[in-house]
Amino acid sequence: LHDCTTCSSDACATEMLRIADEQNIETAWHRHAAQQPQCGFGSSGLCCRICMKGPCRIDPFGNGPRFGICGADADTIVARHMVRMMAAGAASHSEHGRHIALALRHLADGHLDDYAIRDEAKMLAVAARLGVATDGRALMDVVRDVADLTLGDFQNQDEKKPCTWLAATLPEKRLKKLGDLGILPHNIDATVAQTMSRTHIGCDSDPTNLVLGGLRVALTDLDGMVLATELSDALFGTPKPVATSSNLGVLKVDAVNVAVNGHNPILSDVICQVAADLEAEAIAAGATAGINIVGVCCTGNEVMMRHGIPLATNYLSQELPILTGALEAMVLDVQCIMPSLPRIAECFHTVVVTTDPRNKIKGATHVDFSETKAVETAKTILRMAIAAYGRRDKNRVNIPKLAQRTIAGFSTEAIVAALTAVDAADPLKPVIDNVVNGNIQGIVLFGGCNNTKTMQDASYFRIATELARRNVLVLATGCAAGALAKSGLMTPEATEKYAGEGLKAVSRAIGEAAGLGGPLPLVLHMGSCVDNSRAVILATALANKLGVDLSDLPVVVSAPEAMSEKAVAIGTWAVTIGFPTHLGTVPPVVGSETVTRLVTETAKELIGGHFIVETDPAIAADKLFAAIQERRRGLGL
Ligand code: SF4
Ligand code: FE2
Repeated sequence: LHDCTTCSSDACATEMLRIADEQNIETAWHRHAAQQPQCGFGSSGLCCRICMKGPCRIDPFGNGPRFGICGADADTIVARHMVRMMAAGAASHSEHGRHIALALRHLADGHLDDYAIRDEAKMLAVAARLGVATDGRALMDVVRDVADLTLGDFQNQDEKKPCTWLAATLPEKRLKKLGDLGILPHNIDATVAQTMSRTHIGCDSDPTNLVLGGLRVALTDLDGMVLATELSDALFGTPKPVATSSNLGVLKVDAVNVAVNGHNPILSDVICQVAADLEAEAIAAGATAGINIVGVCCTGNEVMMRHGIPLATNYLSQELPILTGALEAMVLDVQCIMPSLPRIAECFHTVVVTTDPRNKIKGATHVDFSETKAVETAKTILRMAIAAYGRRDKNRVNIPKLAQRTIAGFSTEAIVAALTAVDAADPLKPVIDNVVNGNIQGIVLFGGCNNTKTMQDASYFRIATELARRNVLVLATGCAAGALAKSGLMTPEATEKYAGEGLKAVSRAIGEAAGLGGPLPLVLHMGSCVDNSRAVILATALANKLGVDLSDLPVVVSAPEAMSEKAVAIGTWAVTIGFPTHLGTVPPVVGSETVTRLVTETAKELIGGHFIVETDPAIAADKLFAAIQERRRGLGL
């Protein structure tokens, strides 16, 4: 048993944890408790396992060893470890991006019958941004050129030529600054490989040089994200505002409930498309409400943004939909998936399906997914879920009542479209005017994960409402968006309740002009983690219009529950492109004063952005607001 009152601020999660305790089912929270106390050397980054002479540990109090066996000191050990985390994060997001780019290439070659360019306008806009000719050309020729240029970001060997997508995304001033520092990457794969190589035993041991290398590899993470988002929009559609709901109450007692969990929309989008075709089969199996697809984690965000699919839950509570006893299948693709899922599913009728040959889980059923037979595979998986419905134990069904109304779908294009309703000739003007007059003090982007080190979702709610009250416009992606959706902050009612007067007036004006029948939701859902790129594109548009750099804008980033290596990469590029970036969990750097100072202070002088590490959400809100005020003063506001 554990203390439910400190685990999660999500009422559904708390309800399910009680059931977990009653039924003696172990969840992430139970495993977190079993891990206490966690290793102090590991927590501060002072345990090195890079070679087999180790592990070596540095005594943080100065009484024991000051050097590892090879001679590495605390600074080297901490820096190498962090930089490797960034490389792993960049590899993950970029692998996701490569998958989409390759699908696009195969589509252009006529090998993918189950996909199409669903948003031709976006495809052409992307082509134009990358400098691909479109006039009078067949669409698939344009698609092939865009795919090849994108794949070039994984292949280019000319170190002087920066990655195409970064060059097409960031403001000129920022590109110049990064180029001058020698940290503008030329190739995603090469930079990840170079990062692994330079952090091998006996290579780069200068902490400053290592951290600069880290910034470079983190920028490849951004490159991979931008290309993943933009090409996904072309393939699956660019999100528009959509009304849906969030939390475990989205499961239906008389439906075949199927959760899609992971990150990549290339499978989950097809599952959503074919579900309607199998509706009759589900009804014939006794599920009168047919098939109910729900999302978990970022693949959930992808299908919520594009199809209004409801979100069952975010990362940390991903085991809990199974505990409702009403989930027939959980379909997995890649990243942030708990290996415990099949163990929990064993206690119920749920089938856990892995689909990526490089991401299997012991105890799960594997159905190999390939884009060439996407519809067929999606149908096979859905039929497994329909068959499982017959095995459901009706006496063990416990679906929590709460399904929070959620307005999602705020792609950059959707935001600009809403602003166009206010000022068709100059859509960004209403935002800039209101930032200048102070109705909007600044913008905060919430991103990142859940982490058992803090109460699930609680800091998100606290910091978001605190900043909104002070007239800060709130954006969110990833599991941050999941947290804020479940908390009811993606509604116009939340704007009426929590926004400061200035922000409320602006939200009303935009929401009404755009025909939303009320103010914008308090928090604008911009998508999955890779869709942090949308916020960068929006910020770049604002910076370009004002003729300033990103580091001049009153824009801040907050990751109150940062957890994954991907989050380390995102946080680092956010700092590198100039944003003050809050972490609510203490990263394993505190064992090195030098590295801590580099990322929290020196970075600010060098690149404009810096990390703010603060575990207390109320103080974090103050610090983020102070950073916004500093930027405003810099702009003379
Ligand atoms: Fe120890 Fe150096 Fe090997 Fe790390 S690389 S485990 S510090 S000997
Ligand atoms: Fe994510």
